[in-house]
Amino acid sequence: MTEAGFSVTVPATTANLGPGFDHLGLALSLNMRIEVASADAWYVLYQDKEYAELPTDETNLIVQTIQHVASRYDQVIASQKLVVHSDIPLGKGLGSSATAIAAGIEIASELAGLQLSPKDKLRIGSELEGHADNVTAALIGGMTVSYFTDDEMEVLTFPAPPIGVVILVPPVALKTEASRGLLPEQLTHKVAVRGSAAGSVMTAAIAQSDWVTAGRMMERDLYHEPYRKVGFPNFDEIRLACKEAGAYGMTISGAGPSLFVAVPPGTEQQVAASLEQSFPHYQALALQPAEKGAYITK
Ligand code: HSE
Repeated sequence: MTEAGFSVTVPATTANLGPGFDHLGLALSLNMRIEVASADAWYVLYQDKEYAELPTDETNLIVQTIQHVASRYDQVIASQKLVVHSDIPLGKGLGSSATAIAAGIEIASELAGLQLSPKDKLRIGSELEGHADNVTAALIGGMTVSYFTDDEMEVLTFPAPPIGVVILVPPVALKTEASRGLLPEQLTHKVAVRGSAAGSVMTAAIAQSDWVTAGRMMERDLYHEPYRKVGFPNFDEIRLACKEAGAYGMTISGAGPSLFVAVPPGTEQQVAASLEQSFPHYQALALQPAEKGAYITK
């Protein structure tokens, strides 16, 4: 059962927001759009130079996701040509692989007429990604808070929060596996409790739209920032400059190497310009949280 001639749009995401490690995701106002049409063989055509190195055949992550979903439901999907337009920096901590997985799930569901429920999509995406933060936000938009294990899954959502966002993007990419390789196998009970408290207070503050407290807690992460920040030139200096520019808080975006800065709404352009001037190593993107997750247009 195939249909042709539709497109799927999926937002970029930032994960963690500091202590929300592996369970908090936020959709952002950058998108990947994929035009889907039937073809004689699977082929992925990337329109943006940054993506030129990615596989264009069946080893491509979007195609692999489509085929994985199809076979999970005992379906076979005929080959398609996928034309990909994206303004999401690749390998920079903005969820580009989760975006590709979310797109693959949507495409498979559409082409095979699976009518997957949001819950099915969230579980499949989290299983493929290995954690639930980016992919849940990519699929449903806004901000997501997830509990994900082999047997259980809970995903709660917040509407896109009333903040502006600045993302500082360095020229180098970083593989998530390499960044996760910097993390310790174990934390002491005391450290884990403090990390959890920071995450809980941050999430409760976000629920109350108290971004001053949320921003402060965002900078109290103990799960990953202490181990990853060593790879960032001027991390503490940038954090200080963010504060001086009026930001609520700054942290690593996902696994890095970009930095996520939460700012009062409407100030993102001005803060981005000021940070880019002070830290020219980074490109500063002025963005907003995105309300909408992945959607299909016919
Ligand atoms: N939570 C993940 C990490 C996000 O920080 O490694 C990247 O996939």
